[in-house]
Amino acid sequence: MAGDARHVFLVGFMGAGKSTVGKMLAEKLGRPFVDLDARIEAAAGARVREVFEKIGESGFRRLERDALESLESQEPAVVACGGGIVTVDENRSTLRRLGVVVYLQVTSGEALARIGDVASRPLLAGPSGTLAATSLLAAREGLYRSVADVTVDTSGRTAVQVAEQAASLIGDLA
Ligand code: S3P
Repeated sequence: MAGDARHVFLVGFMGAGKSTVGKMLAEKLGRPFVDLDARIEAAAGARVREVFEKIGESGFRRLERDALESLESQEPAVVACGGGIVTVDENRSTLRRLGVVVYLQVTSGEALARIGDVASRPLLAGPSGTLAATSLLAAREGLYRSVADVTVDTSGRTAVQVAEQAASLIGDLA
């Protein structure tokens, strides 16, 4: 295992900009970029929506947990995590153990506006996406905060601005 691996994990709600900001941050820090949902899709041979359909959210969370744990043996990267990663207690411990955690904060309204078509987000794809987003975010806010080393408010800011602030707050933590 790469015991010194200090990944930079981006957490936050769907639509917070984790993947967009993550790619920019990886470039700034000269590290590889990892999209955890893409890893899960590669392992499952199916899109996230199909994974939810076939094995439900609990099955998806098992694959997510495996994908997160597999990073322990990999070179330090910038990792965009799925929005629900913090809902599993062990994941919060793993995030803190393997790296620096950056919380990208967003309101549910702005998140929905950024996502646009929620078809690829099974947890928001029901008849009341707005209600689902508001209550899910309220339930998770404390979890994001509890795991974060640094927090960046993304409201009304561009991905470039968010990546710049994240890089300066991370400093030499990672
Ligand atoms: C989820 C967020 C999604 C994806 C899955 C579940 C969640 O990732 O992992 O649909 O529980 O918030 P993004 O945050 O990248 O959209």
